[in-house]
Amino acid sequence: MNVSEAVASRRSVRAFLGKPVDLDLVRSILDRARMAPSGCNFQPWRGTVLSGAKLREVQDAMAASEPQDPIEYSWSEPEKSEIHLRRLQELGAQFYGAMEIERADKEGRADFARQNIYSFGAPVVLMVHFERLMGPPQWSDVGMWLQTIMLLCREEGLDTCPQEWMALYARLIKQHIGVSDEEQILFCGIAIGYGDHSVPLNRFERTRVPLDEQVRFLSE
Ligand SMILES: Cc1cc2nc3c(=O)[nH]c(=O)nc-3n(C[C@H](O)[C@H](O)[C@H](O)COP(=O)(O)O)c2cc1C
Repeated sequence: MNVSEAVASRRSVRAFLGKPVDLDLVRSILDRARMAPSGCNFQPWRGTVLSGAKLREVQDAMAASEPQDPIEYSWSEPEKSEIHLRRLQELGAQFYGAMEIERADKEGRADFARQNIYSFGAPVVLMVHFERLMGPPQWSDVGMWLQTIMLLCREEGLDTCPQEWMALYARLIKQHIGVSDEEQILFCGIAIGYGDHSVPLNRFERTRVPLDEQVRFLSE
C-alpha cells in the first residue's frame, strides 16, 4: 500500500469485527509513528493503549457514569459559524441515514452516540493525553502523530476511529489509567481494530469541500 492508498482508504470506522489485534503490531506502529513531526521537536503527545480487561473496566465505568461537567474542552465552537454547522449536519445526515435513524429520533441518535463508550467494538483503544501547558501549536502536532498512526494502521490492514467523545469522561478515564488530571488533558481516544466493511455505517460516501474552496494558489 502506498501513502495515497493509505490516505484514501482511511475512514472513521464505527463497527469493528471481534477479531483480536496483535499488541506487538500496535507497539510497532506506535514505534514507527514516533517519527511524526512537531514544532521544536517537542513531541508533546502521550498515549495509553488499552485492551482486554483494562479496556472493559474503563468502558464499564463510563457506561455507569454521566459525562463530566464541565467537559474537558469544547470541540463545538465552529458550530457557531453557519458553514461549519452545515458540514456537521451533513455528516449527521450521512451517518444516521446509513443506520436508518430518523432526524427526529433524538433517542436513537443519542443511543448510537453512546456506542462511542465501547469504541464501536474495537478491541484496542489508544487514549491520547498530554500536558496541560501545551498550546494550539502542540495540539496540531498531536494531530500529526494521530494521522501518522492511522495511516500506519491502514498499511497493516487495521482500521481506526478517532474519538473526542472520550473527553466527556476525561477525569474518569484518567483516574482509571493513572494519569494526573491536574497535569494532563485527555484529548481523544483512537479505536483500533479490524472494521466490518459489510455494514452501511462503514460504507457511506464521505464528502469534502472542493480543493479550490480550501486552498488558493498565488503566483504574482
Ligand atoms: C480529533 C477527532 C475526533 C473525532 N471524534 C469522533 C468521535 O468522538 N466519534 C466519532 O464517531 N467520530 C469522531 N471523529 C471522526 C470524524 O467525524 C471524521 O473524521 C469526519 O467525519 C471525516 O470522516 P472520515 O474520518 O471517515 O474521513 C473524530 C475525528 C477526529 C479527527
